[in-house]
This record gives sequence, C-alpha cells and structure tokens, in this order.
Amino acid sequence: MAGGAFVNAGGDRIEYPGKMTLFVFLTCLVAATGGLIFGYDIGISGGVTSMDSFLSKFFPSVYRKEKEDTSTNQYCKFDSQLLTTFTSSLYLAALIASFFASTVTRMLGRKWSMFGGGITFLVGAALNGAAKDVAMLIVGRILLGIGVGFANQSVPVYLSEMAPAKLRGMLNIGFQLMITIGILAANLINYGTAKIKGGWGWRVSLALAAVPAGIITLGSLFLPDTPNSLIERGHDDKARTMLCRIRGTADIHDEYADLKAASEESKTVKHPWRNITHRRYRPQLIMAILIPFFQQVTGINVIMFYAPVLFKTLGFGSDASLMSAIITGLVNVFATVVSIFTVDRLGRRKLFLQGGCQMLACQIIIGTLIAIKFGTSGQGHFSHTYAGAIVAFICIYVAGFAWSWGPLGWLVPSEIFPLEIRSAGQSITVSVNMLFTFIIAQAFLALLCRLKFGLFYFFGFWVLVMTFFIAFFLPETKGVPIEEMAHVWRGHWFWGRFITDEDIHVRSKLEMTDGKKGTAAAAPTKLEMTDGKKGAAAAPTATV
Ligand code: BGC
Repeated sequence: MAGGAFVNAGGDRIEYPGKMTLFVFLTCLVAATGGLIFGYDIGISGGVTSMDSFLSKFFPSVYRKEKEDTSTNQYCKFDSQLLTTFTSSLYLAALIASFFASTVTRMLGRKWSMFGGGITFLVGAALNGAAKDVAMLIVGRILLGIGVGFANQSVPVYLSEMAPAKLRGMLNIGFQLMITIGILAANLINYGTAKIKGGWGWRVSLALAAVPAGIITLGSLFLPDTPNSLIERGHDDKARTMLCRIRGTADIHDEYADLKAASEESKTVKHPWRNITHRRYRPQLIMAILIPFFQQVTGINVIMFYAPVLFKTLGFGSDASLMSAIITGLVNVFATVVSIFTVDRLGRRKLFLQGGCQMLACQIIIGTLIAIKFGTSGQGHFSHTYAGAIVAFICIYVAGFAWSWGPLGWLVPSEIFPLEIRSAGQSITVSVNMLFTFIIAQAFLALLCRLKFGLFYFFGFWVLVMTFFIAFFLPETKGVPIEEMAHVWRGHWFWGRFITDEDIHVRSKLEMTDGKKGTAAAAPTKLEMTDGKKGAAAAPTATV
C-alpha cells in the first residue's frame, strides 16, 4: 500500500489527506537542531578531558597520576572515576531535568521546552568557556545537562506530531542526524583546538557549545506549536488552522477528529505518571524503558566517547587516533542519512533487524581480532594493516548503529505513546537513555580492564538479545497515524492481551460522537499493516 495506511475491521482506511509542505519541512528542520546540543556534548567532552592544559588546571592530581602511569597492559589504562564523574554528571542532570520537562511540554507546549533547553545550555556553555575553577565547570555542566534533558524530551515528540504519518520516520530522524552532525563538529573542533599553543584550546571547545545552543534557542521562538499540543491546551481553532497549514489542505476533518478524540480521552487521565503504569499502557511502558536501555548497551558510546583512547590503545599515534575518530564520525553522519530515506519504506523492524545483525557480526570480529593480538595479557602490537582492518570493522559497526538503533531509539518511543501519557513516556525514555549513557561512560575503562577483548562480546550478547526482542515484540509502526497506534498494540500477538476491546472502544465512541466514521465503533479485528502483512488481532475477549 503506497505511502502506508492503516485499515481497521470497519473498513476504515485511515490515511489522512495532505502532503509534506515546505512549512512542515522547515519547522521540523529547525526543531531537529535541538539534536545539535546533545551531539556536540557527546563529541566534545572526551577530547577536552584528554588535553593536558585542561587536566593540569582543573584536575592536577589526575594529571600527575596519568603522567606517572607506566603500565604496558593495553587493556588497563589509567582510570580516574573523578574525571569520568565530571564528564558524565551532565547525563545525571539531564535525567532529572527530563521529568520537569515533561510538565512544561504538556502544560506550555513543546516549543517552550525547546526554548528553555536552549537557553539553559547557552548559559552552561558560557560558564564552561569562562571557567576559573572546578565549581564553575560543574555548575556549567549541570546547566548543559538540563538543556539536553529538555531538548531530548520535547524535540522527538514535536517532530512526530508535526509530521504526516507516512513521512514521520524521515522527519523525526532529522533529530538523530543533528546529533551525529554535532558529534562530528565537536570532533573536528577538538582536533583544531588541541593544537592551540598557550593551553586555552579547551576554552574554545567548551564555549563553542554556545553556537548550537543559540540556533535552537532562536529557532524555537519561530516554531509553531503542534496541533496535538494546541488541542491538549484548549486552543481548538488555532489547532485547526495549524493542521490545515502543515498538511497543505483544508480537508483535515478526519485527522482533526482523531486528534480531538485523543485529547478528550487524555482529559480523563488526571495523573499521567500514575496512569502510565495502568495495564493498557504496559506495551508502551516496556518499550519506553527497554528501547533506550538497548540503545545504550549496543556499546555505541564506547566508540563515541572513547574513540581516541581506544584507537590509541590499538597502537595509533595521538594524531592518528583523532583522525580515526573523525572517520567514524563521518560514517555516523552518512549512515544516518541512509535511514532517513529508508525508514518509511522498509519500516522500523527491518532496519532494527538488519542493523542488529551487522553490529553483532562486527563485534564478534573486532573482539576476535583483538584477542588474537593482545590475548588476555594485554601485551602486543598491531601492524598498520591489522589496525586498519579493525578501524574498518568499527566503521561498519557504527554504520549499522547509525541506520538502526541510533535514530530508531528516539523515533519509536516518540510515536507510540497516546497523548495522555506522551510527555511522561518520553521523559522515561530520556531518563533511561541518560542513566545508561552515564553508567557505560563511568564503567567502560574498568570493564575493559576486566573483560579485555571480551568487552566486545559482552556488548555483542546484548545486541543479540535486543535483535530477538525486536523480532518478537516490536510491531511495525510505519505509516500508522500517531493517534491510531492503540490498534497496532491490540493486534499484536503478545501485547494484544494487555488491551481490552473496551480500551479501543473508548476512542471509537469519542470519534462517533464527533460525527466521524460511522463504522469506527466496531472493534478492529483485523489489521492491515503497511508492508501488506495482515494479522488477526488478539481474541476479542482479553486473555489475561
Ligand atoms: C544516542 C547517543 C549516541 C549517538 C551516536 C544517539 O542516538 O542516544 O547516546 O552517542 O546516537 O550517534
């Protein structure tokens, strides 16, 4: 079915009229720049904390110990928990901030969360660039974290709500594309500032975070609110006008009625946080937790944070290490573009499954190549060709992540929550993501020292688990209108048991009252998914 549509048993083909307008494209482009601040931070910290001038100024004891470290064991590099805590404090701040962002996003609209995120990040960047002591650095990092928490909470939801269903994947992945561009830009900047004589290069790296922050802060002021959020806050007329504008047609009755019904239903929910634990939201809650968890245990941030350290460990010189980090950064950007053009055609599941297999194969190969040379003692040396082969497999691994778990780790959660729990659900996704980003950043060097080459097998094991999880438990969501997603869960062989016909009826009745779709009251018994696959919905009586 071209473009992707969703058909329920009443025979309603739920595919709204309208096209992708220039207006929607531009608003999504501006909103996606919220990803730049997250990406910039991921890319900048590792490089800055390895600059001697930065370390000797703020962490003299760490600097001394690092210089005294003469160990030749390639697996067990000097590990300072103090330094990594400083770096990853940002992720803890983001974790907490995303819960506050949930309220702002729901009560004031998505754009004010983005604006708040941008401005806090801007102040954080200024403090860090001008830092005189550790206190200034830490306060700065906390502010950066708050900025990331707010942006990551609101941007993916904004994009998924603005986009027409059949192009939602493409527009949402703009966010991940901006993350990867932020990481690459940071790597390039570090490469340049590390060469600045006089020891103030780190200031330039940290202060330049103000550029992406300025872009999203200013940009958000020009952004319109999403129709979903306008209805949620009682601005029905504005919502109707906005919907006409973003869909480029006056024929928005069906979509508007669905949004309105979703909003009416959401008004019956007074406590999103308590309600998200309700049985009928179980599938979404599990996904909100497991998807970001799995995204982090792919091990991607070992490469993103530690590429220079890792490449140095593998016997590259320090310039060559930074260069290799730039190569993986480029692969990350270009492979993300691949997902932009395939996600709404192939669907989410195919990308997840293909990317998972590719990452797993690379992890096994990389682990084995390292085992052959370094064994368990960690003593050894790579030839240029051997090191080149490892970098090549790291690039293939990064590409696999960049068109699967990278973008889909943000896209899928943002499109599966019904309106009444959307902000709360997205906060859970952000906080789980930040928590495991923090844990992996914190534990990586200690894990490498203990697990040695087995670290790659460790992450490979998780990739295997998540690939099976997707195969069995994630239904395809491509092309399904965001407010119709309940039907997808109801039709799933496993999740269907958590959602009763009554749960679906509530929505259908509301649609009926709204004068829409005469047949919609019939409970859907059959789903026709975009890839032409038909599946019988779970038995009408819920099996508990
Ligand atoms: C993840 C980050 C990761 C980045 C790499 C994002 O989707 O959330 O943790 O560093 O992708 O491109």
